[in-house]
Amino acid sequence: MGYETLRFPKETVFLVTGGGGFIGSNLCEAILNMGCKVRCFDDLSTGKRENVELFLDHENYTFMQGDIKDFDACLQATQGVDYVLHQAAWGSVPRSIALPLFYAKNNSLGTMNMLEAAYKNGVKRFVYASSSSVYGDSAQLPKKEGTEGNLLSPYAVSKRNNEECAKQYTKHFGLETIGLRYFNVFGKRQDPDGAYAAVIPKFIKQLLRGEVPTINGDGKQSRDFTYVENVVEANLKACVAPSLAAGEAYNIAYGGRSYLIDIYYGLTKALGVDIAPIFGPDRAGDIKHSNADISKARTLLGYDPSWSFERGIAAAIDWYKENL
Ligand SMILES: NC(=O)c1ccc[n+]([C@@H]2O[C@H](COP(=O)([O-])OP(=O)(O)OC[C@H]3O[C@@H](n4cnc5c(N)ncnc54)[C@H](O)[C@@H]3O)[C@@H](O)[C@H]2O)c1
Repeated sequence: MGYETLRFPKETVFLVTGGGGFIGSNLCEAILNMGCKVRCFDDLSTGKRENVELFLDHENYTFMQGDIKDFDACLQATQGVDYVLHQAAWGSVPRSIALPLFYAKNNSLGTMNMLEAAYKNGVKRFVYASSSSVYGDSAQLPKKEGTEGNLLSPYAVSKRNNEECAKQYTKHFGLETIGLRYFNVFGKRQDPDGAYAAVIPKFIKQLLRGEVPTINGDGKQSRDFTYVENVVEANLKACVAPSLAAGEAYNIAYGGRSYLIDIYYGLTKALGVDIAPIFGPDRAGDIKHSNADISKARTLLGYDPSWSFERGIAAAIDWYKENL
């Protein structure tokens, strides 16, 4: 069961940090569809103005352009807010290896600013984006909370740091925090461009344009690709889960496993093209296999994802065909 049955009072105010990005803009859309108010807080560093312009005419939507590195801006953004859905961060493992100091400031310190501001303003619950990267080099499959290995990138360090800091705010200050470890999310409005783009939108765009995509490594790496609607469900259910769920982090995925090479040929088939990929070198900091045990989120958050990989990829392809 998805989040459609959840009922929040109409006057509920959500703050979505990173609301100009891929996941954040999908969250804003879902909140508006529920009839509640949403404030989007984003510096548009990797997000897009068009993801904000989509909703600007909506009476329940407000946009605050600002930076989570700026504590006063975080204080202002969290005033009068019931729930914070904190998505703002820079993604990408390889980019974080190129820019470790920036990731510490933006993702780690930025999240500390948001936690402190949410606490000072009496926010009911602070739900935040963590990542499967916190499992590091752990070879255990499926990945289960409590079996994390050595971290492999500054990005993963920033996400682990977010989890540890959030736990402190729950433990010492009573701010109810819930971390969501997303596993390779895909879906509408995910950016297909740039050196650090995620594979699914990048491949779809390249194949639609008749270009030849490059697969890093042999294509036999596997991931638990998760459609964005499942992530929206997890965020909204985390807002209303019992208080005993707070101070913890949860795997958020579909609980499946797809090999990159199979996805590639599934996409060529769905798009009706016959293009063989180029195989490039492995990427530093990447792991070979990843798939999630989602039983903790099922039990404590009531998470029950209804979008399988197949259903999600069909929806994503339709969207990119219309919007590229
Ligand atoms: N997409 C995935 O597969 C995935 C997987 C695991 C975790 N995550 C996490 O989910 C969150 C959202 O990811 P996404 O894929 O939507 O990325 P995205 O880049 O599309 O969105 C991130 C948004 O945060 C904003 N932002 C970044 N730094 C900011 C700052 N200092 N102040 C204000 N806004 C800032 C960006 O402008 C952007 O709009 C991130 O925290 C990311 O680490 C994503």
